Amino acid sequence: MKLPLPSLPTALQPKPKPPGEAERLKPVDHAKEAGIATLDWVDERTSLSGAARWTMFRKVPKGTNWFYTLGSATLFAFLSQAVTGVFLAMYYDPSVTHAYESARHITNDVFLGEFVRGMHKWGSTMMVILVCLHMARTFFFGAYKYPRELNWLIGVVLLILTFVMSFTGYLLPFDQRSYWATVVGVNINGTGPLVGPFLSDFLRGGAEFGSTTLSRFYAIHMLLLPGAIIALIGAHLYLVARLGTTAPPWLKADSGEGLREERT
Ligand code: HEM
Repeated sequence: MKLPLPSLPTALQPKPKPPGEAERLKPVDHAKEAGIATLDWVDERTSLSGAARWTMFRKVPKGTNWFYTLGSATLFAFLSQAVTGVFLAMYYDPSVTHAYESARHITNDVFLGEFVRGMHKWGSTMMVILVCLHMARTFFFGAYKYPRELNWLIGVVLLILTFVMSFTGYLLPFDQRSYWATVVGVNINGTGPLVGPFLSDFLRGGAEFGSTTLSRFYAIHMLLLPGAIIALIGAHLYLVARLGTTAPPWLKADSGEGLREERT
């Protein structure tokens, strides 16, 4: 059964004006109206408000709790990585002769450079922790079962891409630790069955570590993976909006009355 779209909240509904009101509008009232008028202008030409309401005003299961925020927390961590990463890319130089020096320059000389670099570094750890906790939540709440198997599979790919993101980012400061840790990581990949040797050759960009390795890791880290992650998060969230979230397992028994209306 198709549910009708919920009506707009009262605060957003246009209020009828008493006669003569239009002439008495002050500049501040015009300013207040400007936001709504702009949204109306866009909506009249795109009809996007239906899609926005479809995405945001939903029924959520009874018993929804703080564990359900872990997916959004992961999303926030990713967005924070994207924003801080853009600022770092403005100063970073991915060449073997300048990479270390440019990272040092960001920390020591650039305004707020140490702060942004720190956010990016600790943010990557947070994202890995959050994505694992979110996966654990969906697993223990049985959210991987029918009809959400595809979303689980997309999640598995997102998990792998998050790990590869951390791995490729680790080389970029190009200090002794990051260099040797990446040599070890690439060698471990090389021990994998069948594809292992090809994978390590691909990551190195040949048989030896060199300038191609660094530029390859940089391209994967800041172009390929963010693009793939954004596309997959889009598909992941579309399926969450389409299928809704799973009720906590202890409420499954009374699934008939498991839904309550709530704005998320
Ligand atoms: C970049 C990584 C990820 C982001 C940004 C993300 C984001 C989200 C968000 C916002 C939700 C809805 C709210 C919630 O249930 O927490 C969700 C739901 C879900 N996610 Fe993720 N997710 C990611 C990775 C994963 C991983 C690694 C898995 C599992 C392998 C996964 C499986 C699921 C499933 C099955 C649901 C549906 C939950 C339900 O029906 O209750 N996600 N995700």
